[in-house]
Amino acid sequence: MSNDDLVTAESIENWSMVFPNQANPNGNMFGGDLLAIMDTTAAMAAKRYSQRQVSTVSVEAVHFAKPFMVGDNIKVTAKVVLVGTSSMMVKTLAFKDIGQNQVEQCVSAYFNLVAFDEDRVPTAVPKLRLLKENNADYQRALVIKESAQTRHKQLQAVK
Ligand SMILES: CC(C)(COP(=O)(O)OP(=O)(O)OC[C@H]1O[C@@H](n2cnc3c(N)ncnc32)[C@H](O)[C@@H]1OP(=O)(O)O)[C@@H](O)C(=O)NCCC(=O)NCCS
Repeated sequence: MSNDDLVTAESIENWSMVFPNQANPNGNMFGGDLLAIMDTTAAMAAKRYSQRQVSTVSVEAVHFAKPFMVGDNIKVTAKVVLVGTSSMMVKTLAFKDIGQNQVEQCVSAYFNLVAFDEDRVPTAVPKLRLLKENNADYQRALVIKESAQTRHKQLQAVK
């Protein structure tokens, strides 16, 4: 394979706002609603990268570090940082708009998506062009993928 066959992953950005029906009585946004937005954004990044239809197979390393409240603007970013054969690990971050063109990171997660062909059979995705500035994300995703695979095998061994 030549360098010309490698594909550069683009970061996708998706903005939304927290509505009252997405919150608990204290005004905090439900984690599940936020994960749905992050999942959609991750799928958009994986679809754009692979030029295929995609489905999420696992969600790894979810960390809700800070809450979103009703009325907050949410910025979600997603980027493919590691690829397997048909799978893509997408680093996905959610930020709160804190004004004056500043955002604060609140949630992080790695979504693992698989690319499909027309018959819904997992199909190979392009190899990723690894840029120097993405190396730390790639290394983190490798650790997360390896630990997820180990956990998957251990769970299968438990009857
Ligand atoms: C995606 C799906 C077709 C994969 O089927 P499968 O029989 O596991 O397919 P394969 O064994 O060929 O695996 C395909 C890829 O998925 C990865 N994968 C499968 N299960 C996984 C898991 N639990 N965690 C992480 N990766 C997984 C495999 O490692 C493989 O990656 P690779 O091609 O890069 O090596 C199947 O799991 C599915 O349809 N899941 C439902 C997806 C969905 O509906 N998502 C929406 C949320 S409900």
